[in-house]
Amino acid sequence: MLTAVYFSGTGNTRFCAERFVRKQGGRAFPIEDKSAVSALAESSEIVLAYPIYYSNIPVIIRDFIKDNAALWHGKRVFIIVTMGAFSGDGTGCSARILRKLGASITGGLHVKMPDCIGDVKLLKKPLKKNKEIVEKAERKIDGAAKKYRSGKPPRDGLNAFAHIAGLFGQRLWFRGKTKDYTQNPKIDRGKCVGCGVCKQLCPMNNIQLENGKAAAGDKCTLCYRCFSKCPQKAITIIGKEVITQYDFRSLIDNVQRFGEQSNHAQQHSGDTAKPHNN
Ligand SMILES: Cc1cc2nc3c(=O)[nH]c(=O)nc-3n(C[C@H](O)[C@H](O)[C@H](O)COP(=O)(O)O)c2cc1C
Ligand code: SF4
Ligand code: SF4
Repeated sequence: MLTAVYFSGTGNTRFCAERFVRKQGGRAFPIEDKSAVSALAESSEIVLAYPIYYSNIPVIIRDFIKDNAALWHGKRVFIIVTMGAFSGDGTGCSARILRKLGASITGGLHVKMPDCIGDVKLLKKPLKKNKEIVEKAERKIDGAAKKYRSGKPPRDGLNAFAHIAGLFGQRLWFRGKTKDYTQNPKIDRGKCVGCGVCKQLCPMNNIQLENGKAAAGDKCTLCYRCFSKCPQKAITIIGKEVITQYDFRSLIDNVQRFGEQSNHAQQHSGDTAKPHNN
């Protein structure tokens, strides 16, 4: 059975991975879910999905690949990358590591989704525009799934030209940002009420409560989940002020389009909507 393992800070990648595998009767696991590793071990056809950060792989995904290095040998891996605008070789970044670990790469898909960064004004788009982006993404995923089933999967981001574009377009200049985990997020202690939502949702267990206020450590993978869910808007990461908290669910009109979800997946993507079956 086709098995997707994915990381999704704010919901985009989860949506894309679930939609892609659902079209093939497969299943999807967030990497924070303990069953992700056993599912990976059991399956030979894998989909690996992640968002792109500075034209690179999130550190949490790089570590997941390396922590489970022995499991990739002999696997056939299709890579899905989501991004706000451009990644160059977003799929290629993990493909190179996976090949070294003995996997063969069956193809790659780059999906443009709304930018989840909500504290940089330049990156914000109106709701209508973001909905259009999601609709276009759905069509692209469905087309790719069809090609995958017919044995001719797309190969986005896997050629030499894409590698050069990703490297010189952004990765080289911003390498420091994704080299390791960072000391983030910034928490406004005046606004924080110590509700613990950020602590509960952080995939890196990077936030603790100290004297009734949230305090960040140095293991942030920059996923924007805490930023997007803090009820007090007390969190910033790259920028200095909260412009819009990213809410993926506001972009889809029909909840059923979000696909089948497990409770695990919801906990791990920070999504609070009710589970449903379709
Ligand atoms: C720290 C950070 C860096 C990002 N860098 C890029 C980038 O280089 N290129 C791009 O197109 N999108 C970039 N994005 C946007 C995300 O890749 C995009 O919104 C993605 O779909 C988020 O997926 P998620 O909701 O599954 O976390 C960046 C987002 C973050 C949080
Ligand atoms: S979610 Fe916001 S208000 Fe709640 S503990 Fe975290 S920073 Fe404080
Ligand atoms: S601290 Fe926030 S942005 Fe950083 S990894 Fe945790 S949830 Fe993601």
